[in-house]
Amino acid sequence: MRELALNILDIAENSVSAGATLIEIEVRADFEKDEMSITIGDDGCGMDEEMLQRVTDPFTTTRTTRKVGMGLPLFKYSAESAGGSFQIRSEKGKGTQVCATYRISHVDRMPLGDYGGVVLQLVTMNPQVNFRFIAGDGERSGTLDTRELREVLGEDIPLNSVEVRAFLKEYIQENLVDIFGGRL
Ligand SMILES: Nc1ncnc2c1ncn2[C@@H]1O[C@H](COP(=O)(O)OP(=O)(O)OP(=O)(O)O)[C@@H](O)[C@H]1O
Ligand SMILES: [Mg+2]
Repeated sequence: MRELALNILDIAENSVSAGATLIEIEVRADFEKDEMSITIGDDGCGMDEEMLQRVTDPFTTTRTTRKVGMGLPLFKYSAESAGGSFQIRSEKGKGTQVCATYRISHVDRMPLGDYGGVVLQLVTMNPQVNFRFIAGDGERSGTLDTRELREVLGEDIPLNSVEVRAFLKEYIQENLVDIFGGRL
C-alpha cells in the first residue's frame, strides 16, 4: 500500500464490518510541529482485551491460532516506520478507536493519496452508515457529516445519486486542497 488513504479505507471497512452506525474519521496536520494524525472511531461491536492484544501484535501469535488480517498491522507499520506512533482502544459492545501519527517530512511517510476518493467511496458504498469526516491544519478545518447532508437533501435524493456524487467529489476535493494544499 503506497497511500495512507488506502489504509484509512481498510480501517474504516473494519468499522463497517463491526456494524458501526457512526464512523468518524479525522485527519489533522500541524506543519510547524511536522506532525500529522489520522483517527478513525466507530460505535461498532468492539473487541475484548484478548482480541485487542492479538490484532495489535499479530506476529507473536502462532500459526495454529486464528488467522489475523493485515489491515491493522499495516496501518501500525505505516506510522511506526514514519517516526510516528499507533494506538488502538476498543471496548466490547461500545466501539473502537484507532489513531496513527506520522512525522510529515519523514522519508518513509506515505503520501495521503486520493483521500477524497476514499471519502466518496465510503459514503456511497455504505448508505446504512453515518460518517463524519474532519480535516484540519490548526488554522483551517472542514467537516463533512452525512447526517447533515441527508437532512439538507431530504429522503428522495440518496447520497449515491449521480448528482450528489458529482457535487461531493468536487466539494471534498476543494476542501482538502484548501486545507492541506497538497502538502500531505
Ligand atoms: N473497528 C473494529 N471493530 C471491531 N473489530 C475490529 C475492528 N477492527 C478490527 N477488528 C477485528 O480485528 C480483526 C483484524 O483486523 P484487520 O483489519 O487487521 O484484519 P482483517 O479485517 O481481519 O483482514 P484484512 O483487513 O486483512 O482484510 C478483524 O477481523 C476484526 O475481528
Ligand atoms: Mg481489515
